[in-house]
Amino acid sequence: MRKKIVAGNWKMNNNKEETAQLIAALKAKGSFAGVEVKVAPTSIHLVQAVDALIDSAIEVIGQNMHQATNGAYTGEISASMLQSIGVNSVILGHSERRAYFNETDEALAEKVATAVKHDMEVVFCFGEELADRQNEQHFKVVEEQLSKALFSLPNTAWGKIVLAYEPVWAIGTGETASPEQAQEMHAFIRGLVAQQYDASVAENVAILYGGSVKSANAQEIFSKPDVDGGLIGGAALNADDFFAIVQSI
Ligand code: PGA
Repeated sequence: MRKKIVAGNWKMNNNKEETAQLIAALKAKGSFAGVEVKVAPTSIHLVQAVDALIDSAIEVIGQNMHQATNGAYTGEISASMLQSIGVNSVILGHSERRAYFNETDEALAEKVATAVKHDMEVVFCFGEELADRQNEQHFKVVEEQLSKALFSLPNTAWGKIVLAYEPVWAIGTGETASPEQAQEMHAFIRGLVAQQYDASVAENVAILYGGSVKSANAQEIFSKPDVDGGLIGGAALNADDFFAIVQSI
């Protein structure tokens, strides 16, 4: 059976104290049976989060990392730095990184390769913009993003890849893809992976949906057969909301 995953991307939110409070509130929720729960605080709070969640099933993951092993890249963090503090999973390719920090598919392919080389898990984000969907280019755009960044990986790397389909028009907008739109795209993605690799790789890869997932809509989206969980932004900043989403799976 495929893994079920709910991951919270806290983005550039919460100071040190607020981070501690959110973690404490999440820990107070108890255990999350049958679902992998991950949270991605901003990089300066990763150490704090790892320490605070050491005795919990909640995994701390990074929001980003650089493709180089080390060197003169002011402001960046590397795979080995993340691993040295106990972070073994990282979000790559988020649409905000693509849009505001000019991350291209080519650069993302390098980041993914570096993460895989370090045996890190990658939560790889991709998705079309509104104009792409309006012009019925969404399948083509998604295929191109996946093919450029991931389809050079060997079969063996796929055990460490989690896909996160996040239509850009649904992120932080309150607008979600309908459960049917999500299912249609997720089935298409699984088909692409099957074509490029094989049925077993496709069957085993978790495909998360992201974009305005809330406690009110999570259950319907997660009920679709090819939706294996969610990547949650805004609603992950509130422990009650996030826990309700986790319970919807
Ligand atoms: P949102 O963000 O849930 O606030 O739309 C999702 C994301 O950016 O991963």
